[in-house]
Amino acid sequence: MADIEKKPIKIMETILRDAHQSLIATRMTTEQMLPIVDKMDKVGYHAVECWGGATFDASLRFLKEDPWERLRKFRDGFKNTKLQMLFRGQNILGYRPYADDVVSYFVQKSVANGIDIIRIFDCLNDLRNLQTAVSAANAEKAEAQVALSYTLGDAYTLEYWVEIAKRIEDMGADSICIKDMAGLLVPYEASRLIKALKEATSLPIELHTHYTSGVASMTYLKAVEAGVDVIDTAVSPFALGTSQPATEVMVETFRGTPYDTGFDQSLLAEIADYFRPIRDEALASGLLNPKNMGVDIKTLMYQVPGGMLSNLTSQLKEQNAEDKYYDVLAEVPRVRKDLGEPPLVTPSSQIVGTQAVFNVLMGERYKMATKETKDILSGKYGATVKPFNEDVRKKVLGEEAEIITCRPADLLEDELDTLRGECEKWMQQEEDVLTYALFPQVATEFFKYREAQQTKVDYGEADVKHGSYPV
Ligand code: CO
Repeated sequence: MADIEKKPIKIMETILRDAHQSLIATRMTTEQMLPIVDKMDKVGYHAVECWGGATFDASLRFLKEDPWERLRKFRDGFKNTKLQMLFRGQNILGYRPYADDVVSYFVQKSVANGIDIIRIFDCLNDLRNLQTAVSAANAEKAEAQVALSYTLGDAYTLEYWVEIAKRIEDMGADSICIKDMAGLLVPYEASRLIKALKEATSLPIELHTHYTSGVASMTYLKAVEAGVDVIDTAVSPFALGTSQPATEVMVETFRGTPYDTGFDQSLLAEIADYFRPIRDEALASGLLNPKNMGVDIKTLMYQVPGGMLSNLTSQLKEQNAEDKYYDVLAEVPRVRKDLGEPPLVTPSSQIVGTQAVFNVLMGERYKMATKETKDILSGKYGATVKPFNEDVRKKVLGEEAEIITCRPADLLEDELDTLRGECEKWMQQEEDVLTYALFPQVATEFFKYREAQQTKVDYGEADVKHGSYPV
């Protein structure tokens, strides 16, 4: 291989965000993470993902921590490594679309507090829902990475991915991520996809996958050979299962090849030694479910994310209708088609799954529709890649219903001033208005807790064991 050009593969480390979000419901505390930051900073990672996704909500709700404070501590500790966050397009880190002024201000403050790379995605891959965040990241001189929610289906041909990648380049993104949240991207398909994307755009391509279906490290191998620039991994104690492939394994795989990372394996071992007791503790307390550590091949068979399968099981159990499991599984792809064949990722996975359960249990399709099904069919989430099933749309919304075809956020008035008015009395820093904007109720409870702590009133231990998040 001596005549082959050296092209070290870049590694993005997820242990401080996705890995613990996927395995232990985002419950790692700042206190648990800070002591190892110094060593992690010496590895030579392309970036460390440490913020955004569900960490913001979990910090406030379960850990009683200020997420902004956590970010500033990471920034202090990581002197040489870029910090990365995950951002849900117009939904920021929350569960509803926000007005553009909130989106832009959130990006501005994220960067001001230490973020270098913002990975932005939308559950429908409607790029209009990403434009405000991308432009704001550009304005703040942060790296704007657009992530495509990867999925399978008639609409998702190689041509589709190539076409959308070109549009991402045109919209001002600095890099592209293939975000395979369900572990559906198999090795040889990854090879085809990465080659096609590298030909279509000059942007760096990053691949993000989950180990859920068991193929992820082979997928990375083929993707790297096909020219991918960055892969996302987690240090071994929080790797595999519903998390990412292990950092040490990928580093060793490429040693002595043109893709050699040059990372110090003994330094990685020290980092793994640090996290292992945290994992053991999570296993002992039940926070880490051994079920999440195995291979879930059903995710490939039914082409639905593992987390969605377990949601369906528990929804059916609640209704005493577990015998309808396979009927519901067969209904899921039909509902998905009716709703324009969206990728199945939060929140579209919940919308499709719940409607499929309704359709089966009611004995008549769309006899009852959820509010979210109505919203998606009226265009409130944005445009889907395929058209809606018109008969279904009419049945759910009626003949005369108004359909939104514009960018949904165009209908939202600026809301920052109103929000500021509502939370002014709690504010101790500018960032608090953004915390409040995302989760008004949880934020207010946190603000009260914070004040009480400052006046030395004992509110007891934070509840860190309950509640969970989708992968
Ligand atoms: Co992920």
